[in-house]
Amino acid sequence: MANSPHGPASFWTQANALLRKNLTFQKRNIGTNIRLILFPLVLCLLLAIIQVLIDRELDKPENKCGCTCTRTQGGQCQERVCGIEYSDVDQAPTCPIPNPPEWPPLLQVPAPQYRAVQTDVFPFSEFPNESCRRTGSCPVTMLFTGNNQTFGEILSGNMFTNTFSINNSDIVGSVASNVVGSESATELTNFLEPAFFSGLPIYNLQNQCTQNSTISIPIQRSNITSPQEVRCAQVLNIWRNSSSEVNNELYQGYRRANTERQINEIVAAYDLLDSNRNNLNVSIWYNSTQANDTGFGSIGLVRVPRSVNLVSSAFLQFLLGPGTKMIFEFVKEMPKPETPINFDLSSVLGALFFSWVILQLFTVVLTSLVYEKQEKLRIMMKMHGLGDGPYWIISYGYFLAVSAIYMLCFVIFGSLIGLKFFTLNDYSIQFVFYFIYINLQISLAFLSASMFSNVKTATVIANIGVFGTGLLGGFLFQYFVQDTSFPGAWIVVMELYPGFALYRGLYEFAQSSFNGDTLGTNGMRWGDLNDSTNGMKEVLIIMLVEWVMVLFVAYYVDQVLSSGKSPLFFLKGFQRKSSSSFRKPSIQRQGSKVFVQMEKPDVIQEREKVEQLLLEPTTSHAIICDDLKKVYPGRDGNPEKFAVRGLSLALPRGECFGMLGPNGAGKTSFINMMIGLTKPTSGTAFVQGLDIRNDMDGIYTSMGVCPQHDLLWGTLTGREHLLFYGRLKNLKGSALTQAVEESLKNVNLFHGGVADKQAKKYSGGMKRRLSVAISLIGDPSVVYMDEPSTGLDPASRKSLWNVVRRAKQDRAIILTTHSMEEAEILCDRLGIFVDGSLQCIGNPTELKARYGGSFVFTMTTSSDNESEVEKLVRQLSPNAKKVYHISGTQKFELPKDEIRIADVFRTVGTAKSNFPVFAWGLVNTTLEDVFIKVAQGAQAFNTLS
Ligand SMILES: *[C@@H]1O[C@H](CO)[C@@H](O)[C@H](O)[C@H]1NC(C)=O
Ligand SMILES: *[C@@H]1O[C@H](CO)[C@@H](O)[C@H](O)[C@H]1NC(C)=O
Ligand SMILES: *[C@@H]1O[C@H](CO)[C@@H](O)[C@H](O)[C@H]1NC(C)=O
Ligand SMILES: *[C@@H]1O[C@H](CO)[C@@H](O)[C@H](O)[C@H]1NC(C)=O
Ligand SMILES: *[C@@H]1O[C@H](CO)[C@@H](O)[C@H](O)[C@H]1NC(C)=O
Repeated sequence: MANSPHGPASFWTQANALLRKNLTFQKRNIGTNIRLILFPLVLCLLLAIIQVLIDRELDKPENKCGCTCTRTQGGQCQERVCGIEYSDVDQAPTCPIPNPPEWPPLLQVPAPQYRAVQTDVFPFSEFPNESCRRTGSCPVTMLFTGNNQTFGEILSGNMFTNTFSINNSDIVGSVASNVVGSESATELTNFLEPAFFSGLPIYNLQNQCTQNSTISIPIQRSNITSPQEVRCAQVLNIWRNSSSEVNNELYQGYRRANTERQINEIVAAYDLLDSNRNNLNVSIWYNSTQANDTGFGSIGLVRVPRSVNLVSSAFLQFLLGPGTKMIFEFVKEMPKPETPINFDLSSVLGALFFSWVILQLFTVVLTSLVYEKQEKLRIMMKMHGLGDGPYWIISYGYFLAVSAIYMLCFVIFGSLIGLKFFTLNDYSIQFVFYFIYINLQISLAFLSASMFSNVKTATVIANIGVFGTGLLGGFLFQYFVQDTSFPGAWIVVMELYPGFALYRGLYEFAQSSFNGDTLGTNGMRWGDLNDSTNGMKEVLIIMLVEWVMVLFVAYYVDQVLSSGKSPLFFLKGFQRKSSSSFRKPSIQRQGSKVFVQMEKPDVIQEREKVEQLLLEPTTSHAIICDDLKKVYPGRDGNPEKFAVRGLSLALPRGECFGMLGPNGAGKTSFINMMIGLTKPTSGTAFVQGLDIRNDMDGIYTSMGVCPQHDLLWGTLTGREHLLFYGRLKNLKGSALTQAVEESLKNVNLFHGGVADKQAKKYSGGMKRRLSVAISLIGDPSVVYMDEPSTGLDPASRKSLWNVVRRAKQDRAIILTTHSMEEAEILCDRLGIFVDGSLQCIGNPTELKARYGGSFVFTMTTSSDNESEVEKLVRQLSPNAKKVYHISGTQKFELPKDEIRIADVFRTVGTAKSNFPVFAWGLVNTTLEDVFIKVAQGAQAFNTLS
């Protein structure tokens, strides 16, 4: 770090590097991005098309106010008139009604079979016998109560007459002057009074009915006049002593009605309270079921006005004499314009559909984050110096931008297409709502990403979540919201789940736009948020608070999980800061004495050197490993696995250290500890004086890694990779371009436009070379290369070796390889690593001398002459060792100090003259022999012990 010409990259340099890389990456992924943004467009279009179909259906004549032709000429209609009189029942509701018809005011009268009779619950002698229900002649009952019974009976007597008079020239007026009622249900409007269209009789209420009491009167219905049956119904006015008695009676009748055994219906009950000659003060009980049939049933008007009129009229008559009447002439609706039927699909389906559209983004963000994790790209960037801060800011900002563009397109398309969901509601509320939600969603994706390591799993689970949330919202949550009796606090609790908060918000938008559309008013405005039935305010508050909390938790979890910090890392400031300076070798070391004793002298020497270095720190050594150990705990009954058993190693700058070892020897465990992927179980290492246990972030700024498996972005070119990692290493401007060019040339990726091809089109060897170039860019002082030349053709391998040889001038390189040739050419020192510990360490020549020290002599003869060959070899060198023997071919090791090559040739000459020799050979020991010998020796020892 200290010798690096440029310090570590600043926060903004890193952010800039990542941003540029991401932009290029997105440019390459333009197809996916366009598809993503087109998704809402397609959905909106689909909605719009269905909407057009619905509109077309609603536009058909049978769904519009009926018309008729008044003048035809040559088969062509010249003049049309439209109106309610030309419409059928389905068409009528849409017609303009400038002059609504007048209807006589009616009372709500129970049907004959439901009228109050004497039963076991109502054993009142005033009530008629149940037998009247069979003949349909039951009287209708009215109850009265009050402080003065005399007064009450006078008023009730004044209410009804004993005659029914009709003036044929003023039907409505004369019906109104009698007391009439209907058993038919009302509707929401009174343009057409259902009583006159239901086919049911209307009842004329009299004190006493005459024998032949059913008459027929002509009633004008739209443009035709037809007879209407008027039946006499006797009224029974009953006095009760108190209002509680009345209450009791009405209540019991209601209960009975529900059990469907018996219904005792009473027309109305009057409580005259303290009324007297000077003062009319009255309460009226009436059946309000029709007014609010809770739930989804029809809601109608209630026929109450006439009840009020009756008592007022009776009072007036009491005051002014029998001739006086307070006439209630008619009831009439307000005029109405033509009201075409509207059906805005987006408002009805909005909440469910749009919550899917928006939740979709969650999957996109999550899979993108998990992809970087799965492909280990995040850790690769981190190892080359990308800090968590820039990573978070740029990734978050990037996803926010994508989400914002997506939502913007969504709202713009929807508005352009004319979906009321968007156009009717205030855009600023929509903006605030969507903005807060996408932020919450991105934070959630960051949090969830830490739970997944596989893109496929993440995608499947996220999609289940998306669809499940939409469905639960639409088919469960929405019912709770609509049910006014459901406690609001529980709805708020449910909205803590962000999916439901989103659903609620969209539902409110949909409701507002639907109401706005049907009533022709505005959708949601800021003022409506104060409305107690509007849930938007709570939703916004919940989402805002959750956003902040989730973001915080996500960052925390990420720090703990992916950066390997302790769960209490933020308390670090309070703890005693563990010193990053070299520590003294501890007494504990004695514990491993048994093991030390079996170590080879060269390994012990290295250990002593490390201990020396730790005592008197110098900066000449780039890497010092101090008794590094890694133990994987036992699982499923297996014993603990010692991956690295106390490794001590000191690497000066300018040295390339080759690590050889059979598969599974612990090389990768060692490298993983050095690059911060795993924590050592005990011991530590210092890279440039920084402790790998707690200063990894510092180490990353001057480290390069060429991992065993290429970690590259398929869609970025080689040059772009190098530019990105170069920027992370704080290279700028011309220095950057120069470094990139040079490095491309070095790894032979410069010519033929290879540098500008996407990495996914590279062959395996080219990827490997690019990985090596990445590990070397920006002059890192420490480089780890895990089998850099695997899969390379001989020519590329040669050029790669040149690169590494040149690169090692000023830095420490640790290289693992299975190629002895490579180790011999590149490495200044080698260590053979078997079963978690170093078996030997030294430069290749030394090792060969130490472990080789012999020639290998091979001779093939017929099997009869084998013993003679052996005899000759023994003569040549008494300490020769036979290492191999099969059907005439024998292999011996001859100690170098015992023989001269000339003697060997002479012996072979002798042999040839004695018996036929098919083939023979003499070779010096290779590194490979050394490796096999050391590895086998160590393994044999370990199996023995
Ligand atoms: C009850 O009302 C009648 C009729 O108005 C009246 O004559 C009588 O005095 C009233 N009785 C009382 C107790 O107020
Ligand atoms: C009938 O009604 C007409 C019009 O309101 C009125 O002129 C006439 O006097 C009424 N006839 C009777 C008998 O009340
Ligand atoms: C109502 O009061 C009158 C007189 O006070 C009494 O005779 C009658 O029994 C009472 N009726 C009932 C049902 O209590
Ligand atoms: C109230 O009215 C409804 C419909 O008009 C009827 O079904 C119900 O039985 C009535 N209830 C009572 C207690 O009169
Ligand atoms: C009808 O609605 C009114 C107002 O919302 C309410 O006060 C009344 O209790 C309701 N009546 C019934 C029978 O539900």
